[in-house]
Amino acid sequence: MYQEIDLDKIDIHADPPLEEPARQYYFMAKCRKWVKGFEQRNGRLPKSCVLNFGCQMNARDSEKLSGILKQIGYILAEEEDSADFCIYNTCTVRDNADQRVYGRLGHLNSLKKKKPSMKIALCGCMMQEPGTVERIRKSYRFVDLVFGTHNIYKFAELLAEMFEQDRMIVDIWQSTDAIVEELPAERKYPFKSGINIMFGCNNFCSYCIVPYVRGRERSRNPKDILQEISSLAADGVVEIMLLGQNVNSYGKNLEDQMNFAGLLREVEKIEGIRRIRFMTSHPKDLSDELIQVMAESEKICRHLHLPLQSGSTRILKEMNRRYTKEEYLSLVERIRRAIPDIALTTDIIVGFPGETPEDVDETIDVIRKVGFDNAFTFLYSKRTGTPAAAMENQVEESVMKEGFDRVLKVVQDTARKRVALLAGRTMEALVEEENEQDPSLMTGRLANNILVHFPGEPSLIGQIVPVHLREYKGFYYLGERM
Ligand code: SAH
Ligand code: SF4
Ligand code: F3S
Repeated sequence: MYQEIDLDKIDIHADPPLEEPARQYYFMAKCRKWVKGFEQRNGRLPKSCVLNFGCQMNARDSEKLSGILKQIGYILAEEEDSADFCIYNTCTVRDNADQRVYGRLGHLNSLKKKKPSMKIALCGCMMQEPGTVERIRKSYRFVDLVFGTHNIYKFAELLAEMFEQDRMIVDIWQSTDAIVEELPAERKYPFKSGINIMFGCNNFCSYCIVPYVRGRERSRNPKDILQEISSLAADGVVEIMLLGQNVNSYGKNLEDQMNFAGLLREVEKIEGIRRIRFMTSHPKDLSDELIQVMAESEKICRHLHLPLQSGSTRILKEMNRRYTKEEYLSLVERIRRAIPDIALTTDIIVGFPGETPEDVDETIDVIRKVGFDNAFTFLYSKRTGTPAAAMENQVEESVMKEGFDRVLKVVQDTARKRVALLAGRTMEALVEEENEQDPSLMTGRLANNILVHFPGEPSLIGQIVPVHLREYKGFYYLGERM
């Protein structure tokens, strides 16, 4: 019901309501008034730009920020240069994510010097780290608003405060139990969407900062999730991606008896949804029931992202992953037996403290045995506050890089070989966009997440069409529509 609310009917001279999301709609109405004032002064509407630095969950958060900005009257822009308001939604999973943000902040500073009325906000995972906020207060004083992951639903309220005050506003919460439903979101693609099914993470893999910056695991109510997906389907969405740091433990804190396999069964029934994806699966919690649901499903994509991290049982133990090399391999075997055509992708970390070249050999052994369709390989990055950061046996950079190059080579060779096997087949592709380099080509995504470029018209965007996979170009296909 909130999606259809008329902001102009809200009395902004009354006290703000205490309950959510009514309170945020009140502040949206207030911000709308500010935007109208801007329009009167400048003869145009203000532009805003939300840039995303992190994972799919961050991307979905950015869509929620954009949804609020659109509701209050901002024009949404893709790049910072013409924007009156820039928001960086940050990630801190590895140090290079932090460095990208600091690098671009310099650029924002020079833009703001030219246009002092410009506003700048920083939010997301990086802001949950006390050291970062201190650094911003000290060295990046041109920033207007800083908030974190737990209070993102309060964006409208924080904006209203920003418009009224001329100092840096910092609002970071250490945790929250709240899940605020029914706030607007502006999708990047009209035909596909991510949906949060849970927030936070309880796993505490010893290298990982996510549980510290995203808080404890909380599942959304199935009713809210299913309602959201139904209304997305009614709005033309055909593909959805269920999002959580560990979707396989969905439902653990809920009163309703619902696990992830059960949720998928319900999602499958929603008319209009043609493809279902999810991310991310932790191998330790992947149940046989889930494998069965996937095998029986007509809509769940034949693709599973199953982060391995390491193939060495000793390192896995140090990482607190709670499975062994053999358990991972036997899980893959069970999955492949039930769903033979499934594409498997993974994440691998090289250079975890204490990792030896022999441990890297174990990882390479798993890559060869499984034959991943794709693998994201990362150099270990020390995250302050995690148990691994305090380990004494940190691996030297040159050794790390050597292992990384070895892993990458095997990953690329095996992925190429596996994906090349699809040549000559005809598969369904969801047409996503025009090809950037060659506008006569359209780009579609296969169920296994591989891209295919083929001659076609932009009118196909959003449709699922059969495409003949003619030529494999290493990580993508050239094809023809059948
Ligand atoms: N919840 C997901 C992963 C989220 S982070 C899961 O458990 O699989 C995405 C990926 O970043 C991880 O799978 C891991 O491979 C990588 N990663 C996380 N922390 C890292 C670190 N400190 N250094 C290098 N890579 C890291
Ligand atoms: Fe990080 Fe592990 Fe949680 Fe994934 S499961 S977010 S790697 S702690
Ligand atoms: Fe990064 Fe936060 Fe996602 S740290 S990977 S944006 S949960």
